[in-house]
Amino acid sequence: MKTATPVVLPSDPDGRTPRHVAIIMDGNGRWAKQRGLPRTAGHREGVKSVRAVVEESVRRGVQILTLFAFSSENWQRPRSEVNILMELFISALRSEVRRLHESQVRLRVIGERAAFPEKLQHRIAEAEALTAENSRLNLQVAANYGGRWDIMQAARRLAAEARAGRIDPEEIDEALFSGYLSFPDLPEPDLFIRTGGEQRLSNFVLWQSAYAELYFTDTLWPAFDEAAYGQALDDYGRRQRRFGLTGDQVESVAPVSRYARG
Ligand code: IPE
Ligand code: IPE
Ligand code: MG
Repeated sequence: MKTATPVVLPSDPDGRTPRHVAIIMDGNGRWAKQRGLPRTAGHREGVKSVRAVVEESVRRGVQILTLFAFSSENWQRPRSEVNILMELFISALRSEVRRLHESQVRLRVIGERAAFPEKLQHRIAEAEALTAENSRLNLQVAANYGGRWDIMQAARRLAAEARAGRIDPEEIDEALFSGYLSFPDLPEPDLFIRTGGEQRLSNFVLWQSAYAELYFTDTLWPAFDEAAYGQALDDYGRRQRRFGLTGDQVESVAPVSRYARG
């Protein structure tokens, strides 16, 4: 019989505020259609929700916010919509970066950025450099990102290291592998939100969300405001994360912290 090993929890199961929130910002097109507007009007309106969620994250003490802005599959949309989305990224970077910097937000873009227009790549690099020392909130924008792409690029780099003799394939474990994924320096998402009513992952952070709490809401992204986000955070605060353990084991690890944390 296996002897009982000490209970070790991989993150902060009793915390009422998630350290890391990942959001699929979905429903812009439908929001616009309901109002007889072109889909792109929904994307423009969605920028306001980004602002609201960033500000609320800072207020509520969320440390990392990862937003899915453009998937590797979204290139297949009509050319005109893709072009407007690229222009919107450029203009949003221009209009929002100063405000983000003032709020001590660090901005990073995850995904394969080489596919973006030069001008956008340049803006991204500037914004990342400007905000690099900020530590109040880590804002990660996933653009031309796919969960499978992330796992694949990690595998490719690991294979190259092995071929060069710098690592032994036998050494590869979950910790080493995770070190090659996007944002290896940050904890994994605790809360995974999808707006817009669909209940699927759509190739967002796959490996890193293995134990994330999922939250789906019918609210379309442009209508997702501070209150709607607050509801998602409150819902998270009422859950018990077990990571394969029993509820009693989890309670015995940190029975006080659940109530002690503000
Ligand atoms: C999400 O909203 C934004 C992007 C994928 C860029 P959608 O554009 O997918 O909106 P719906 O799902 O069509 O309503
Ligand atoms: C996921 O939304 C991507 C982003 C929000 C950026 P989609 O609208 O592209 O997802 P599907 O196609 O409905 O799965
Ligand atoms: Mg959609």
